[in-house]
Amino acid sequence: MTSLYEEVTQVPDGVPTRRVTITVNGQKRTVDVEPRLLLAHLIRQGLKLTGTHSGCDTSNCGACTVLFDGRPIKSCTMLAVQADGSVVETVEGLTKSGALADLQESFMRHNAMQCGFCSSGMLLAAAELIEKQPKASREEVREWISGNYCRCTGYHSIVDAIVDVLDARAKGQKIKPVLANA
Ligand code: FES
Ligand code: FES
Repeated sequence: MTSLYEEVTQVPDGVPTRRVTITVNGQKRTVDVEPRLLLAHLIRQGLKLTGTHSGCDTSNCGACTVLFDGRPIKSCTMLAVQADGSVVETVEGLTKSGALADLQESFMRHNAMQCGFCSSGMLLAAAELIEKQPKASREEVREWISGNYCRCTGYHSIVDAIVDVLDARAKGQKIKPVLANA
């Protein structure tokens, strides 16, 4: 029996492939893929960027969120071949961004993750909100993350975490590291 990983990375003999070049987290990657392969599966299994999660594969949960040419998209809604020539950023690529560092601290401070399955998608959506709508209200934060499901937290702590980052940035402050208080 082949695993999903093998199905994605080992194209069976005789199956036609297409060459796709995508810039992922600043690195140009060229791969031959089956035309049916979802972008989400290419990212996770093909490129081994497992911070992007695969929850429903039906564009509902948001666990597979990535930034595609600067816009958050659900990568299970797109075929890998449609991403040819694009620029993709996954949660791994956001580690250098100040917004993500603040968000990570704030998520820890507010206990805004439990199982963590939704967290990469939430962080990407939130990082994009901070850039695009730095003055977003609490309601706007709720609306912005409404495409990302969380089955654990009840959302309040996630919204609190994002609102704190927005407030801190508006005041020119950083979120204090949680471990600094230990
Ligand atoms: S896995 Fe893509 S939206 Fe759920
Ligand atoms: S923390 Fe578990 S789904 Fe959000």
